[in-house]
Amino acid sequence: MMETVKVVLLGFGTVGSGVYDSILHTHQEKLEKVIGKKVEIVGILVKTEKDRQLPENIIVTTKIEEILALPKIDYVFEAIVGIEPAYSYTQLFLDRGCHVISANKELLANRGEELSEYALNKGKFLTFEAAVAGGIPLLRTIIQLLQVNGILVLEGILNGTSNYILSKMRNEKLSFGECLQEAQQLGYAEANPESDISGRDAFYKQMILSSLIYHEQPDWEKVERVGIEDVALEDLALGEGHGLRLKLLASLKRGDEGIQATVKPTFVSSEHPLYNVEGVDNGIVIKTDLVGTLMLQGPGAGSKATASAMIEDLVQIEQQKQPLQQVHRYSYQTQTQNKKEANESIQLAVFPLQDKEEWLSLKAILNENSKSVNILQEVVKELDGRIYGSFLYDGELECIKLPVLYKRYPVSPIGLKRDHFNLVNIF
Ligand code: HSE
Repeated sequence: MMETVKVVLLGFGTVGSGVYDSILHTHQEKLEKVIGKKVEIVGILVKTEKDRQLPENIIVTTKIEEILALPKIDYVFEAIVGIEPAYSYTQLFLDRGCHVISANKELLANRGEELSEYALNKGKFLTFEAAVAGGIPLLRTIIQLLQVNGILVLEGILNGTSNYILSKMRNEKLSFGECLQEAQQLGYAEANPESDISGRDAFYKQMILSSLIYHEQPDWEKVERVGIEDVALEDLALGEGHGLRLKLLASLKRGDEGIQATVKPTFVSSEHPLYNVEGVDNGIVIKTDLVGTLMLQGPGAGSKATASAMIEDLVQIEQQKQPLQQVHRYSYQTQTQNKKEANESIQLAVFPLQDKEEWLSLKAILNENSKSVNILQEVVKELDGRIYGSFLYDGELECIKLPVLYKRYPVSPIGLKRDHFNLVNIF
């Protein structure tokens, strides 16, 4: 008879129910074939009691004690939101000799290193592929397949909800609120979507990556984190006029001053590898000192994407592959990343205007200050009866007393070439 591994799920929201469906329905046969064992779900910890029509042999409970009382548990799928009680539960189950597979970004960003150590001391696995970039096998690629490569820079779209919102707003001219609602309905957003749109979710993922790549995290207070809450349709339309798309980009590198990390809405040109990463997809560009530049892309959120990452974690553990936390990574000297890239300082500025004359006077002011600012390209558009102007520039805009309020976005230097900029669309 086939051996059975017993599994419990902590949490039964988008993530937990996705794992449930894959193990018991869509991928049961394949999973059993691959690991040569039956996988049985014996318990589910839920937040509230309600009729879920689950099989009777599964203990479904709101009480952790009832899960802990189960006679045998091999794997725990941890899909709870927030640090507690997930932190305590993870320790409890590791103490009990279970492997823990987690999708909990906040927990891992805050206590991941400590919990990994804890698991190691218990001789158990704590894996968390699902916590970063959804279904993309990113962590294993970094940890197992890029061990000798020194990672110089990582730039990524790490939040599916934000990318979905930005793509949909731009393509369908829908409001921020409408797009967010759809992302929630599709199961992409967090229970509290503030985490997605404020860049906090991407930040947690970035901190997990920093721990894995550099074995340390930057001072959280010093990481610039800007969300997408203030992005307006006209910003996206003006960016399009310059051939640019706005993405919530997380960037991570280590230089002489330590680890530098930012999460902020950033325009990318059509030459940038992340330009075509649209909808709920995530994309990660990794620049290394050996292979060069790699790019990974795929579904960054949603039930199936997360279930895929978690179940593949189980397979990896079953096949006795090296666990994430047991892999030693070589330290390396940072090489080229301190050199300022030529186009690093390019920005896009957006202005709402009263009329065309205002644009002309604004330009006159800029021309007077041409020593400190180089205008590379300008676009003026009428959107919903209002006029907006925007320009790409490098230099210091601060020194100019501009007559109207403006928004600014950075433009990623990757793929940018100065000769791309032709003056377009001026009245
Ligand atoms: N809310 C997250 C996102 C889910 O949109 O990326 C996956 O971590």
